[in-house]
Amino acid sequence: MERRGTAAVVLLAVAALAAAEAQLSPAFYDAICPALQPTVRRGMAQAVQKEPRMGASILRLFFHDCFANSSDGSILLDDTPSFTGEKSAGPNANSVRGYEIIDGIKAQVDASCNATVSCADLGGPNWTVQLGRRDALTASPNVNLPSPLSSLPALLSSFRAKGLDARDLTTLSGAHTVGFARCSSFRAHVYNDTAVDSTFAAQLRAGVCPWTGGDGNLAPLELQGPNKFDNKFFRDLIARRVLLRSDQELFGGGAASSSTTDGIVRAYAANASLFADDFAAAMVKLGNLALTGSNGEIRLNCRRAN
Ligand code: HEM
Ligand SMILES: *[C@@H]1O[C@H](CO)[C@@H](O)[C@H](O)[C@H]1NC(C)=O
Ligand SMILES: *[C@@H]1O[C@H](CO)[C@@H](O)[C@H](O)[C@H]1NC(C)=O
Ligand SMILES: *[C@@H]1O[C@H](CO)[C@@H](O)[C@H](O)[C@H]1NC(C)=O
Ligand SMILES: *[C@@H]1O[C@H](CO)[C@@H](O)[C@H](O)[C@H]1NC(C)=O
Ligand SMILES: *[C@@H]1O[C@H](CO)[C@@H](O)[C@H](O)[C@H]1NC(C)=O
Repeated sequence: MERRGTAAVVLLAVAALAAAEAQLSPAFYDAICPALQPTVRRGMAQAVQKEPRMGASILRLFFHDCFANSSDGSILLDDTPSFTGEKSAGPNANSVRGYEIIDGIKAQVDASCNATVSCADLGGPNWTVQLGRRDALTASPNVNLPSPLSSLPALLSSFRAKGLDARDLTTLSGAHTVGFARCSSFRAHVYNDTAVDSTFAAQLRAGVCPWTGGDGNLAPLELQGPNKFDNKFFRDLIARRVLLRSDQELFGGGAASSSTTDGIVRAYAANASLFADDFAAAMVKLGNLALTGSNGEIRLNCRRAN
């Protein structure tokens, strides 16, 4: 079922033992907040039921939080008169969504657990079972995110800077099997690029993405099921029917991609469970870019430092 698929992507991980050593652990909250797991699952399930896209949106929010220094809830901090946070940064403004869902879940978790669970941990998808993150005291000055116009070498270097390799890049980009993009994010690709199926590009030009205006019009990142987490995105890549130039860079880009990512794309397109297994592992790696121990804090309000 479509909706179940999305819920599976995003139902936040939870679990835990009050780890004696403050390292990330699936059991981090077992003793100090046993209500965490059911509360977070219920909150996400309700949000996705209300709006199926929310699963994709929270998944993206988590990625953006992790890339801005670490998976530390820094993206959740609101701007103030003296402080410009990550929410206003180019790749996030008018694009990242789901902050109010995290606020709602935080309130429900705090009602049971009195501020023992960090905002950063509330942002982890289902299979990010490592917990015990701490919240950043400030936003990161540089969100470090690649652009939808990035070349393969640029994507590789941005991921390498986070300790993630070509395979991680390819695997995690498979997140684009869910969710939507705005016309302003894919206009250049459907008007100006040659590495795109011509019928597909023509449909978008004639439809949701005019040459001028319609910047905020949405198209699904994966045509056949934007609410379903599967491996069809990789088949779209092979058929050159994806929205983002940065995604198409992973396949068919000549020497650069054939030696690094083409084979991985083909393997995922052929084997859905290989992709699912690798994605779960890569999400754990992404979430391990985190603050732990006595660094940072446990925020009372996800939108501001205590
Ligand atoms: C590799 C570099 C990446 C680039 C350049 C990129 C870029 C983008 C862009 C431009 C959009 C559309 C935003 C809009 O138009 O408002 C988008 C959407 C999305 N991205 Fe990525 N992304 C990347 C990697 C990732 C990763 C690693 C994940 C998660 C693991 C991810 C998850 C998502 C999701 C789920 C959406 C849809 C969000 C929604 O519908 O609200 N992306 N991405
Ligand atoms: C989330 O992960 C847990 C633990 O692996 C699993 O039991 C549960 O079925 C998953 N939830 C969904 C909706 O897939
Ligand atoms: C995050 O930023 C702080 C301060 O700028 C730095 O000390 C820390 O090492 C960074 N953490 C990561 C995971 O990049
Ligand atoms: C809950 O948190 C508040 C504020 O941090 C604190 O004053 C109060 O003592 C805590 N209550 C319990 C039961 O831990
Ligand atoms: C397409 O390319 C032309 C020529 O390089 C440039 O002037 C134009 O701004 C580009 N349009 C988009 C939407 O990228
Ligand atoms: C698909 O990948 C899984 C690993 O997730 C592997 O066990 C299985 O053998 C692969 N199937 C085929 C047909 O290659």
